[in-house]
Amino acid sequence: MTTIVGGLGTSHVPAIGAAVDHDKTTEAYWKPLFDGYEKAREWMKDVKPDVAIIVYNDHASAFSLELIPTFLLGVADEFPPADEGYGPRDVPVVKGHPELAWHLAESLILDEFDMAIGNKMPVDHGLTVPLSIACGKPDAWPCRVIPLCVNVIQYPPPTGLRCYKLGKAIRKALENFDSDLRVAIFGTGGMSHQLQGERAGVINAEFDNKFLDQLSGDPKALTEISHQEYMMEAGSEGIEMVMWLIMRGALDDKVKEVHRHYHVPASNTAAGLIILEND
Ligand code: DHB
Ligand code: FE
Repeated sequence: MTTIVGGLGTSHVPAIGAAVDHDKTTEAYWKPLFDGYEKAREWMKDVKPDVAIIVYNDHASAFSLELIPTFLLGVADEFPPADEGYGPRDVPVVKGHPELAWHLAESLILDEFDMAIGNKMPVDHGLTVPLSIACGKPDAWPCRVIPLCVNVIQYPPPTGLRCYKLGKAIRKALENFDSDLRVAIFGTGGMSHQLQGERAGVINAEFDNKFLDQLSGDPKALTEISHQEYMMEAGSEGIEMVMWLIMRGALDDKVKEVHRHYHVPASNTAAGLIILEND
């Protein structure tokens, strides 16, 4: 039986990746943030997932505005780190799990989620920074990865409710996959941040912490947050938080919160991390 070992939600701020790459994580600015990541790294070592399904968004690295998939599953053998304008990050190549990825594609599409298929694509900070947060700086990533890319760049992104339902469909697909694989699911992006315009730099710790509370205890309430409310409360890029609902939907209704960390600032962003396990 395929086992879901748990879900991890985390921000994916590029500067966090740069701090790892340039060995700055113990410097005064970064230490309080990275101290909170230790427990996540221990958790990854303890639960030893064979595969991580990483829900993330591409930031116009693999896709331009010419092609905008709402939901896309990466089914390739491997995914190279993207060049985001200053050369690719010096991190290991991300190894895929084509067999499980194709199973997910079939199950989700037959379940009426019209996934796009990614046979070849680089992965940007949206996917590689969460790996650095959860795994540090290894020579090779400790698990296979299935990228699940979500459009939160170009209006209209999917609703939080649609994301939550997709998580439930992923869970069903995993339950129907005959294997002894241990699978983790990551939801990434957020927390409150806005990178451009008059409100650039907006942080809303009250909204973020309530989001984390409800992610644990009342995820259905989060499915009612509108796009407009995310933008008003958490800034324009706060919309990335809908991706955490895919992770949450894949878990039981009732979960155990294993770890939580919230820190401001990481660059001009609020950084959050949460680990949930089925109770
Ligand atoms: C930044 C970029 C992101 O994609 C994000 O989610 C948070 C911060 C940045 O450029 O600082
Ligand atoms: Fe982002």
